[in-house]
Amino acid sequence: MGVIEIDPGMCTNCKICSKICPVGIILPGSDSEIPFLPAALEDSCAKCGHCSSVCPVGAITPLYENHPPINNVAYEKRIDPGVLANYMQSRRSVRNFLCKPVEKEKISAILEIARFAPSGMNAQPVRWLVVNDPLKVRNLSALTIEWMLEIKEEDGHHPLKNAIPGFLSSWDNGGDPVCRNAPCLVIAYTYSYYNMGFADSIISLSHIDIAAPAFGLGTCWAGILQIAMSSYQPLKEELKIPEKFMAQYSMMLGYPEYEFQKIPGREKADILWR
Ligand SMILES: Cc1cc2nc3c(=O)[nH]c(=O)nc-3n(C[C@H](O)[C@H](O)[C@H](O)COP(=O)(O)O)c2cc1C
Repeated sequence: MGVIEIDPGMCTNCKICSKICPVGIILPGSDSEIPFLPAALEDSCAKCGHCSSVCPVGAITPLYENHPPINNVAYEKRIDPGVLANYMQSRRSVRNFLCKPVEKEKISAILEIARFAPSGMNAQPVRWLVVNDPLKVRNLSALTIEWMLEIKEEDGHHPLKNAIPGFLSSWDNGGDPVCRNAPCLVIAYTYSYYNMGFADSIISLSHIDIAAPAFGLGTCWAGILQIAMSSYQPLKEELKIPEKFMAQYSMMLGYPEYEFQKIPGREKADILWR
């Protein structure tokens, strides 16, 4: 059946598709031949869509299932680097959220952006669990606190040992040191056996991290929850990640209570130039 179709009537034989193919399966052919993808190499196709997206005359059609963005205006505009730097450097970890629900449409729009994040071999392994209910998020925090109490008793060498008393005191005083009373938690999960799942999840979550402020939303990486959910069985049971999958990392999401007035300082970039 083939994975792509190259229309010989439209192809101008520029051979860019052959040069751009990440797995090198679109062969250039001779000067007088148009590029072609031999049937024997079809299974190696990463289905990245680069050939069809780059073709200047639209001669290549992917034959595999394809889900383009809703507004397909790729490459229309480059963002001004200064504007982009300011936007990205202004992103902050938000630890104080308004008691305001996050609209499902906004979360879907952000995930629609994140599904274009890169993934190793274009495997697109990341799936999402969205806990969009402040009570359910708080329950995950409560289980993490339970886990802290357990390791406080049983594991004197745990790396979080010194931080635990502060977390417990904050919880006892009505705070939420784990999920910061966020109304929503986005959890990336992948097949447990898939050993590139962690990197791909972090990259996808980073896209969410970057996209969220454009929707008026704030994020915070849920590192403490992550440590707990990787080992504490009651937390795993509560999450109910489908069998054969594992939670990789999660991120709090919600409307920020406070606005930052300026960008805080950071270390200078430490660069070795060669
Ligand atoms: C992997 C990772 C895990 C994190 N986990 C937490 C967390 O559990 N709780 C929290 O309040 N902040 C967490 N943070 C936020 C960092 O503390 C924050 O990024 C850092 O202090 C810099 O602040 P900024 O993000 O506003 O620049 C995490 C950040 C990363 C990258």
